[in-house]
Amino acid sequence: MARTEKQKMTIKVHEKLLLTGAAGGLGKALRERLKANCTVLRLSDVQAFGEAAAGEEVVLADLADAAAVNQMVAGVNAIVHLGGMSVEGPFGPILQANIIGAYNLYEAARKHGVKRVVFASSNHVTGFYRQGETITADHPARPDGLYGLSKAFGEDLSRFYFDRYGIETACVRIGSSFAAPKDRRMLATWLSFDDLHRLITACLTTPVLGHSIIFGMSDNAVTWWDNSRARHVGYRPQDSSDIFREAVYARTPPPDLTDPVAQYQGGGFVVAGPFAE
Ligand SMILES: NC(=O)c1ccc[n+]([C@@H]2O[C@H](COP(=O)([O-])OP(=O)(O)OC[C@H]3O[C@@H](n4cnc5c(N)ncnc54)[C@H](O)[C@@H]3O)[C@@H](O)[C@H]2O)c1
Repeated sequence: MARTEKQKMTIKVHEKLLLTGAAGGLGKALRERLKANCTVLRLSDVQAFGEAAAGEEVVLADLADAAAVNQMVAGVNAIVHLGGMSVEGPFGPILQANIIGAYNLYEAARKHGVKRVVFASSNHVTGFYRQGETITADHPARPDGLYGLSKAFGEDLSRFYFDRYGIETACVRIGSSFAAPKDRRMLATWLSFDDLHRLITACLTTPVLGHSIIFGMSDNAVTWWDNSRARHVGYRPQDSSDIFREAVYARTPPPDLTDPVAQYQGGGFVVAGPFAE
C-alpha cells in the first residue's frame, strides 16, 4: 500500500537526534515537528529555554566551548545544527559561534562516531549573485558578508569531514524561513516551516546523502536557485509563497533596480556593516 506523506514523515531512522539552536526562531518551529523523526530529541542552545518535555533532553552549551560541545554530542545518532549567529554582525561573535563552533561540532561528531549532520547554511553564501540569474550548487560561493563567509566555512569544513572521515552532511542554504514572506524578496526565498521540516526529514532519511548542498526553499514560482544537483535527497516542497504574492505587492513598493539591495540575491545583507567590534 502506498504510504502517505504523514506516514513517511514518521520514519524514525535515528534513535537520538540533536537539535542545536533550539531556543531560536527555527529551533522553536522544529521542536515539536522533529519529535516525529526520533525517539529522543536532545535540544541545545547557549541560552536557557525551559525544561525538557517527554521524549526530550536539554543540554545547554556554548558552541565555542569544545568541552561543552563534546558533551552535547555524546550519545546522539545524528545532528540538526541550527545554532549560531544568524545575521550579519561583528566578526567576534561570528568567529566564536559559527567558525570555532562548527569546528567544535564536527570534532565532537568525529570523536563520537556521528555520521550524519544537517547543517543550517544560508543563501548568504551566494548572496552576491544577481536576482536576475538562477544558480545551482555548483556555482562558486560568493558570500555577501562575514556571516555568509562563516557559512561558507561551515560548508567547506563539512566537506572536509566527509572526504576525510565519512561524516555525511546536507548543507541546507536556507532562504527565508518564517511563518510568511515579509517582503518581495522573500517571495523568491521563502521556506515554510513545514517544508523546512520536510527538507530536514529528507536529509535525515535518504539512504545516501554524501556531502550535499541544497537550497532551502518552498515551491515558489519565482526562484533564483536550482536544486537539480540534490535530487538524491528526495525533498519535495509542498508549500509556495505564491499565495502571499498579491498581499505582499499591495503593501510594499516596487524595487529600485539601481539599489544593490534589489540587484543581488542577498538583499539587505549585501550593504550591511561594517560593524564596530
Ligand atoms: N531563519 C531563516 O530564514 C534562516 C535563513 C538562513 C539561514 N538560517 C540559519 O538557520 C539557523 C537558525 O536560524 P534562526 O532564524 O532560528 O536563528 P536564531 O538567531 O533565532 O537562532 C539561533 C540560535 O543559536 C543560538 N546561538 C547563538 N550563538 C550560540 C553559541 N555560541 N552557542 C550556542 N548557541 C548559540 C542562539 O541563542 C539562538 O537561539 C541559523 O544557523 C541561521 O544562520 C536561518
